[in-house]
Amino acid sequence: MNRQRFANWTLGYLMLAASHTALADKITVTPMTDEQAPVIARHIYGQFSEHLGRGIYDGVWVGEDSNIANTRGIRNDVVAALKAIQVPVIRWPGGCFADEYHWRDGIGPRQQRPVRKNNWWGGTPEDNAFGTHEFFDFVEQIGADAYVSVNVASSTPTQMREWIEYMTSTGQDTLANERRSNGREQPFGVPFIGIGNESWGCGGNMTPEYYSNLYRRWAAFFHKNGSNFHQQNDNKALRVASGANNLDTNWTKVVMEQAGHGMDAISLHFYTLWTGDWPKRNEAAATEFNQDHWFEILYQASRMEEVLQAHEKVMDKIDPDKRIGLYVDEWGTWYNTEPGTNPGHLYQQNTLRDALVAAISLNIFHQHADRVRMANIAQTVNVLQAMLLTEGAAMAKTPSYYVFKMHLPFHDAKLLPLRYTSPQLTAPSGKFAAISLSAALPKEGGVVISLANSELTQQHELSVNLGDLQLTNVSGEILTADSLDAHNLPGKPETVSPSHFTGATLDNGNLTVNLPAKSVVVLRVR
Ligand code: AHR
Repeated sequence: MNRQRFANWTLGYLMLAASHTALADKITVTPMTDEQAPVIARHIYGQFSEHLGRGIYDGVWVGEDSNIANTRGIRNDVVAALKAIQVPVIRWPGGCFADEYHWRDGIGPRQQRPVRKNNWWGGTPEDNAFGTHEFFDFVEQIGADAYVSVNVASSTPTQMREWIEYMTSTGQDTLANERRSNGREQPFGVPFIGIGNESWGCGGNMTPEYYSNLYRRWAAFFHKNGSNFHQQNDNKALRVASGANNLDTNWTKVVMEQAGHGMDAISLHFYTLWTGDWPKRNEAAATEFNQDHWFEILYQASRMEEVLQAHEKVMDKIDPDKRIGLYVDEWGTWYNTEPGTNPGHLYQQNTLRDALVAAISLNIFHQHADRVRMANIAQTVNVLQAMLLTEGAAMAKTPSYYVFKMHLPFHDAKLLPLRYTSPQLTAPSGKFAAISLSAALPKEGGVVISLANSELTQQHELSVNLGDLQLTNVSGEILTADSLDAHNLPGKPETVSPSHFTGATLDNGNLTVNLPAKSVVVLRVR
């Protein structure tokens, strides 16, 4: 994006954050057509699947002998649901689990694989039935890209190099032949590799200086195609450095300065927590919450804007050409676990409030598409802000799932910056915009607009001048419900799912939207 235009757009967004007034009757939205606007990478709609609780086992893998319908051990219902939202990328095997994972545990005949203790997540036995080949079968069934996180904290560069060779080598070397003897002739496609996870915490408790040195060492044995003198290597993956948590910009600064030359992206983790305070996450229930909890969680989700701005400021100084991507490879809500479930398994319900969190977060990612080129919601099935919840053979699609589905037209669409001023809401920890918006120009033509209203009862009228675009038709979907904690349960009729939206009209290029309280709406204007 042209820098002056970008500055104008940024100003528009800052106005949104800083200039809310009392509730206005009508909100005027001005699109700012910009040839240089970035494309919203579809990878922003990515997922994170860790060996944690019932995320992989039960949620994805049931085994070939299961009564639950499966293809080579992988649940058919889960694959079909994830295909329908065109999941672009899945990050695996962790998380904290990744820095204790040894890839050789998960290859070869399943009955001979070792059983390990999952020390991070409930001490649950990990029988390694789901390993490298099963993971790639899963992503290939869905049609997603693979994002593999390698162990830095409790492993060696040799183990990383050998795993990469096993996955990607086209030659007649021993590792490639071992892969072949395990049933896979062609190399696996690995477009993204993460080097460590939360290296400041569960991934080794390192300082940024120490991690930077380790990163440089690991990167030297990564043998990426075209790097150094390895012109013809089979490994074509982008290298993702383990990034900061929340507002820890010093981590980003040090790692970028000391190791930035050898990375393609750096990650960032930001979870939506009650009062933003890690230990207090257990004070927030996923359901049966009060209005304060509604506002607080949505306020905390909207802080993603401030967090991205802080890291981008640091990155822009070191990498003004934006060569290095910022991957928000863990985000989402984190509440107290569901009563009666293993607290180490992070199983939580997912309500209309989570749908709003998803829409607010995605709208923020869209606005930052020039730097944020991947995001992975935590986690795909049965863990934290999941897309899907399973119970035996039954599966529920969560409100968050439906938000991802409604936003499909945003995949790889060009951002259409918007200028508007939103009314402000008050949460226990701060104020935030009642209305979250973003728009884009899909390749197929027209405009797609995402709108979320965090009000409890107040509908808002928006007026969007699309006059220059010569559009004649508007259609859309809405996700809302009567109760704030409306949710779907496996095996029960759905309470929350999108329906046809009738609150938008287009008159001579002027779009008027009556946006109901506590709703997410996506409009296609053609
Ligand atoms: O998503 C659950 C955990 O949260 C991940 O394992 C870790 O990276 C983060 O702290």
